[in-house]
Amino acid sequence: MTRLGILLSGRGSNFQAIHRAVERGEIEAEIALVVSNVPEAAGLKYAREAGLPVWTMSSKGVPRAEFDRKVLEALREAGVEWVCLAGYMRLLSPEFIAAYAGRIVNIHPSLLPSFPGLDAQEQAFRHGVKITGCTVHLVDEGLDTGPILAQSAVPVLEGDTVESLSARILEAEHKLYPATMARLVGSRKQ
Ligand code: GRF
Repeated sequence: MTRLGILLSGRGSNFQAIHRAVERGEIEAEIALVVSNVPEAAGLKYAREAGLPVWTMSSKGVPRAEFDRKVLEALREAGVEWVCLAGYMRLLSPEFIAAYAGRIVNIHPSLLPSFPGLDAQEQAFRHGVKITGCTVHLVDEGLDTGPILAQSAVPVLEGDTVESLSARILEAEHKLYPATMARLVGSRKQ
């Protein structure tokens, strides 16, 4: 069984989608550790209630390299093989990326390379695109620049607001991320 580490900073709905897929046997893996740089993140509450191992420490005021070394230590101790970023609002240090080279996955709420960075749904909406979506990609040292693994297109509909569009993209994220992880690490159900 592949051992996954989840890194999150907020509500953790993508993490929940991955966890449910793991529970259903759709991803042949176990969640070995859920990490957050935000101790009060809602995603951690879910993790604890689900009985998953959690590691958290506020990253406020901690230099990136130092913080990432602590996260790495926790991941290694838990035997984590693949890292899933799920709304982790921090750039990773080069040391971190090197330690898990080619095994760090992220989801971004736009069709990359369009609209990288923060508020991607709003950027797409304001730009007036008719199709946007989400992207699962491997993480490199750039901001949302790593090799693309999978994408899902989402139409912008008449009367959409940033909120309604974001909600439709999020639904697509919850399908795409687990399906991509299943492809990467295997599934008992395919
Ligand atoms: C998602 O929109 C994801 O694409 C982006 O951050 C958001 C995280 O949401 N990277 P959640 O915490 O998974 O609900």
